[in-house]
Amino acid sequence: MCGIVGYVGARNVPSVLLGSLWRLEYRGYDSSGIAVISNSELIVRKVPGKLSELEELIKRKPVSGELGIGHTRWATHGVPQENNTHPLLDCNEEVALVVNGIIENYLTLKDELEAKGHIFRSLTDSEVIVHLIEQNISKGLTEAVRLTVKKLTGNFAFAAIRIGENKEIVCARHDAPLICCYNAEEAAVASDTSGVVSIFDEVIDIPNDSIVILGRGTCSILNFQGRETKTTPRKVMIEVKDIDKGHFPTFMLKEIYEQPKVLHNIVKERTSDSQIQLGAELSLSEAELKKISRILIQACGTSWHAGLIGKYIIEKFARIHTEVDISSEFRYRDAVLDNDTLVMAISQSGETADTIAGLREAKVKFLKVLSVVNVLQSSIHRESDGIIEIMAGPEIGVASTKAYTAEIVNLYFLALYLGRLRGFVSKTQLKEHFAALMEMPDQVEQILRLDNDIKDIAKEFCNSRDFLFLGRGLNYATALEGALKLKEISYINATGYAAGEMKHGPIALIDDKMPVVCVNPRSSVYDKMLNNIQEVVARKGIPISIVTKGDQRTRGASKYAISIPACHECISPILSVIPLQLLAHHIAALKGLDVDRPRNLAKSVTVE
Ligand code: AGP
Repeated sequence: MCGIVGYVGARNVPSVLLGSLWRLEYRGYDSSGIAVISNSELIVRKVPGKLSELEELIKRKPVSGELGIGHTRWATHGVPQENNTHPLLDCNEEVALVVNGIIENYLTLKDELEAKGHIFRSLTDSEVIVHLIEQNISKGLTEAVRLTVKKLTGNFAFAAIRIGENKEIVCARHDAPLICCYNAEEAAVASDTSGVVSIFDEVIDIPNDSIVILGRGTCSILNFQGRETKTTPRKVMIEVKDIDKGHFPTFMLKEIYEQPKVLHNIVKERTSDSQIQLGAELSLSEAELKKISRILIQACGTSWHAGLIGKYIIEKFARIHTEVDISSEFRYRDAVLDNDTLVMAISQSGETADTIAGLREAKVKFLKVLSVVNVLQSSIHRESDGIIEIMAGPEIGVASTKAYTAEIVNLYFLALYLGRLRGFVSKTQLKEHFAALMEMPDQVEQILRLDNDIKDIAKEFCNSRDFLFLGRGLNYATALEGALKLKEISYINATGYAAGEMKHGPIALIDDKMPVVCVNPRSSVYDKMLNNIQEVVARKGIPISIVTKGDQRTRGASKYAISIPACHECISPILSVIPLQLLAHHIAALKGLDVDRPRNLAKSVTVE
């Protein structure tokens, strides 16, 4: 995934572009660049590496102009080096282009263009776009873009500028996100709202398959046939402070600490008037939901882990057979789905390519899709029949934390809602669950107060080569999530495993250098899990256990024990993961790594 921006107006163009790129950096950060038009000159500044290096380059070699575009990249085709860094130029260096997406037919197009004499400077797929525009540039930038998009296969959002062309930015999108905004003096375009939040308070969600022409105070939106389309701006719901670290050293730590407030707000919103409120966009009637005999959840990474927990909770409260697939597996396995199967997508970003593809696979089979999604107006939001908004607020850290616990809470409410509909959850039981959920944010707050103890554990193990995370039942998913958090930001080889399965192989890994995180809150599988911890000890492994406050047995068997408050078994995955989020964060920070922008990763993986 990459971030693209464009600005035309009276402000300082390079600083507006840089400010926007900083806010979009979480979308990709291995290289970045801007292109600015000043009078009749096209000036480009681009550099592989962190955005701070582009900022330094522009300080050393300042630029100014009336309009410009910018890009922050997560490499797909072509390693992060200057020639592969956007903006990309046509042969005559009069058109500059920035792209987010994948052009699937780029090799065919590149052959055709090279046969016509076009010279390619990069190894990217995106560069075919600027040469296609060049081919028709005599018809003007807008018409050249319109003729270009017809030739492209894949998903893309791009912005282009041309020397001498009416001081306009021309953009296009197909299946990749793009928003724009304008007022009487200026206009901007960005991959998402966070890129423009500091200047505009209203944005337009550009409809799919649209071309946008932005000028100083002008904005027109055409469909790919060239016909004007009308759109309605919406209020920007996020503020700069929402996407600012504040006093925290990293976005990830800020978002870990936001969880009590986020979870409190979700519970308050979902239990107003003592009824379960799943939101105005659930869009599936009680009759449709009652008909469901099977649920198939598909998601990736942390969202997949939330789906695993959702399975347990939905089957427990609503007695509906629920399967959970990794999206990249689901999309290709031609699953047996009959018409009373509800397919669900869980996605924080709403732009994960594999999860979108899984959603489309369900739609092709005429099945209803209910999605749990955080970013409104994202592709998954727009393509689902109904959504439950995660309501975690913008999550900038690549390692998902508050969105994860928020996903679990929303799935908990969905399970209760379905359970009530189907007569498996009584009013009394509902009250008990509400009480447990209302208490949960304060319990998260209590765990956050153990941060320094967790930091001490991190100091002891930050140089470990391997980690094993074990859990059972609901907390098998917690073990998987704890391992993912650690591996993706500390680069330590961390494996999450079902504790009962350890004896079938991973137990061979355990020695006196292996820290083993054992998730063992009070539960129906507590004793079994305690046996597994004993097996770890018998092999000289180092148990670091998550325990319910007052549990001396597990504490006694462990080198370290982190206590969580006593809670309902279905709440324990929310409480148990907090220490694991902090452990991962502190180990990565102690190793001097970039916690918010881990290598090779991006906040949303919009490529398959
Ligand atoms: C989680 O920390 C990772 N960054 C990653 O696994 C992420 O959960 C996955 O890419 C899915 O993202 P989504 O929720 O936006 O679809």
